[in-house]
Amino acid sequence: MSNEIWIKANELKDYVTALRRQIHQHPELGGQEVRTAELICRELQSYGVEIVPVNVPTGVVGLLHGKKPGRGQVTALRADIDALPILEKTGLPYASEHEGKMHACGHDGHTAMLLGAAKLLSTMTEQFSGIVKFIFQPAEETLSGAKDMVKAGVLENPQVDSIVGLHSWPYLPVGVLGTWKGPYYASGDSFQVKIIGGSGHGAYPHKSKDCLLAAAQIVTALQSIVSRQLNAIDNTVLSVCTFHGGTAFNIIPEQVEFSGTVRCHNSEIRNSMPQKMEKIIGGMAEAFGCRYEFNYNFAVPVVANDPETVDRLAAAAEQTAGTGFAVELPGPVMGSEDFGMYSEKIPASAILRLGIADEKNSEIPLHNERFNFNDDAIPYGVSILSQYVLDKNSQ
Ligand code: NI
Repeated sequence: MSNEIWIKANELKDYVTALRRQIHQHPELGGQEVRTAELICRELQSYGVEIVPVNVPTGVVGLLHGKKPGRGQVTALRADIDALPILEKTGLPYASEHEGKMHACGHDGHTAMLLGAAKLLSTMTEQFSGIVKFIFQPAEETLSGAKDMVKAGVLENPQVDSIVGLHSWPYLPVGVLGTWKGPYYASGDSFQVKIIGGSGHGAYPHKSKDCLLAAAQIVTALQSIVSRQLNAIDNTVLSVCTFHGGTAFNIIPEQVEFSGTVRCHNSEIRNSMPQKMEKIIGGMAEAFGCRYEFNYNFAVPVVANDPETVDRLAAAAEQTAGTGFAVELPGPVMGSEDFGMYSEKIPASAILRLGIADEKNSEIPLHNERFNFNDDAIPYGVSILSQYVLDKNSQ
């Protein structure tokens, strides 16, 4: 006997696929998702979902009230809705109509699947208690949307008890839920450094303060933090990704700037990174007779998945799609997700991977100009989200 949610999710597949392709055709960058937000509101209203005002221009929040008597849990489901600045090369009939913008991270699929779950759950309100909060979040790719949504109070009124999300993953077979308990996505921070010396003629370096040589040594020395100051067991990455200085082959420049990113799975280590970095930058700049400026921006925290919430999502996948449709991922990743802004506040939280790989949709990486979300994953994603709510809100 097939599960009711699984049947309903499959009945909705064509409808959700059409929504997904419509969103794909009209990608909008972070903070500009006006048309996408309008589509979401229109759809939610047609299911009888209550739209609550949120002070984020392109963010949408909907509430669906269960009719079953019970404890009244508030369960939040989150989708990211923004696209990327990429020129699409899929050649699809529904390829991007906005040149240089593209849904290359599956957020079109996430948005459509959450709408599918809202539509499905709106037909089953007798079967759950409490409230489902649908959070459609802009600007995930710029790692700023979740911060704005949390600041605007989306986790309150009513206070969220649990929040979950799914992210498409090209390295798992279509429909399979990839699980991980504990820290999964790394924190994602950025830093900027300026080394200021004294300019001079390249032939007479002793008459200048060579900030370029100092900066080059600092870039190298910064790598010793991860390799020599931290336990090798604690995953951390420090990457310098820009380096700018100088105007001509024979002029020692006045200043050099470089910037980069720090990724950690451990919050204590994350918090210690600015001091560790500044000690090296400051000490070495002084040794070379230079001055420095250092900025460290804490952007998004570690995403640590709550083990119980992960078990519940895995159970939802197996209850709907069947045994074997939840597998443990090989390990955490050093990429970041601004979902961490929610998990930092709500302990019962998890964001897991949803497989999209099959023969015709092989492992094209996320953020690639040929990436396309696999619509065959839709019934699985809709089922997992809906079943999670039904189980969680029937306690
Ligand atoms: Ni993404």
